[in-house]
Amino acid sequence: MCRLSTALNQTFWTELGTRATNAASISALFAADDSRVEKFSGRIGAIQVDLSKQRMNPANLAFLQQRAEALDLAGAIRAMFDGQIVNASEHRAVLHGLLRTPECDVPALMQPSDLRSLAGCMRTAHAQMRRICDAIHQGRARDVGVLQPTDIVNIGIGGSDLGPRLVTEALIGDHVPNLRVHFMTNVDAHGSARLLTSLNPATTLFIVVSKTFSTQETRLNALFARAWVQRYLTDAGLSADSLSAHFLAVSSNVKAAIDFGMAPTHILPMSDTVGGRYSVWSAVGLSAALAIGFEKFEAFLAGARAADLSYQTLPITQNLTINLALTEIWNRNGLGYASRAVVPYDDRLARLPEFLQQLEMESNGKRVGADGAAINHETCPVVWGGIGTNVQHAFFQAIHQGTQVIPVDFIGILQPDHPYTEHHQALLANMLAQSAALLRGKDLAQALRESPSNLTDAARNALAAQRVFPGDRPSTTFLLDRLTPESLGQFLAMLENKVHAQSVLWQVNAFDQWGVELGKSLANELLPALQGTGAVAGDWDASTKALLRAVRKYP
Ligand code: F6P
Repeated sequence: MCRLSTALNQTFWTELGTRATNAASISALFAADDSRVEKFSGRIGAIQVDLSKQRMNPANLAFLQQRAEALDLAGAIRAMFDGQIVNASEHRAVLHGLLRTPECDVPALMQPSDLRSLAGCMRTAHAQMRRICDAIHQGRARDVGVLQPTDIVNIGIGGSDLGPRLVTEALIGDHVPNLRVHFMTNVDAHGSARLLTSLNPATTLFIVVSKTFSTQETRLNALFARAWVQRYLTDAGLSADSLSAHFLAVSSNVKAAIDFGMAPTHILPMSDTVGGRYSVWSAVGLSAALAIGFEKFEAFLAGARAADLSYQTLPITQNLTINLALTEIWNRNGLGYASRAVVPYDDRLARLPEFLQQLEMESNGKRVGADGAAINHETCPVVWGGIGTNVQHAFFQAIHQGTQVIPVDFIGILQPDHPYTEHHQALLANMLAQSAALLRGKDLAQALRESPSNLTDAARNALAAQRVFPGDRPSTTFLLDRLTPESLGQFLAMLENKVHAQSVLWQVNAFDQWGVELGKSLANELLPALQGTGAVAGDWDASTKALLRAVRKYP
């Protein structure tokens, strides 16, 4: 990745702000160009993207594209997909793209000694996934050394949960029969205990997913599950030797998994060149593959490959993924919008906002550049959201009439997987109406016309003012033809690649996450203090000490 001088950097961000200050309204942009929708829309496979309701004009997009050229974004893309060390702080390559690259396409540039062998390891893990899925789905679970399950429980958190859970829930229509998949995530035992109470230990298979195998929540939950199975084995008079048949594990730290008590033959490896939030394509996705079958998991990978090829091969000026990335940088750094709402109009995508919170905010929520220099421009916005139409009855008041402009991502599925046409038409009508209303708004004259005539002028004006919608509020609409393994793979990989492109423009490392370390280490220090009865050791602030005392009052 090319690094421009600080002066050049500052000039760019300053000019971007000036351009934004002088930017025409979205309505004016539509009025000035009848072909605006065509110019600002595009398609990647089964996904149509409409950026025309963003406050972006061709000249400003070209300005951002020139910046991408100057930063050699194309070179950064090649470097990542060719396996160069692009995660500088952890001195690692970034190879989630390799997970969905067919063997025949593994970049020839990759050094046979390391990366090609890594590609081979990834394929071996995928083959292991297929064997496990096929054996369990064909009633031959014993062939892979596990019990024949009715229920799968994925134990993991962050990327070891959000990706597999999103995919499993999104593709609910593709699930194999007679196998239920659950997710044990938080260390809060309310959820874990309730889940296990609902399950039969005799037919429950756990998959302990942890790239590092050091995550406190996952280790505690794995111990919780293990004790639950051990109680069952004891009560049933069964040998403790059969414990291992209830557990699989996925980790890049195989030694830690074995030390934890996982059977070596039951551990599926993952590479440490694949970040947790980018890992659903690896053995981390095993629970999802068990839910839908490995053949459909391969379709999911193939969809992602199509998105990668689009990102890698299209020139910057015709690259929908890059234009999406640049438009969001225009909103963040030009127009100064501090957050972005993600609103899928499909219950099956309920987890998407949470998934994107980790993908985007753990990747680009940084304040220091890859070289250690402080960043003097904004980086990742706050990403949040909820499902439509529900959010129309929750936070859309603020989206329409609040004091801050919050760009919205609308995600709609054209072809439903149910026969209830009237419901689906109402769902999509609401989605289209919301983006139209954000654009159109309602001016005072219209509001006055709608105000009751029997009020005093002062009352009518006051009421009308409450009913004015400023309008000209930006949104992007994504339309997926249908929610399938392939379209979901295309969509998630496009969003991963968008995040990468943004990291290049923001000049941060999207692939480390040092910001999660301090909280984890302090929790490890606090736990003994919370469990103990003596004086609270450690130089804690007065608030934390008082809170500790309050907590310690309860057994
Ligand atoms: O949130 C920090 C993080 O390291 C994520 O990047 C990761 O997905 C999650 O915790 C779980 O980590 P692991 O898979 O190592 O348990």
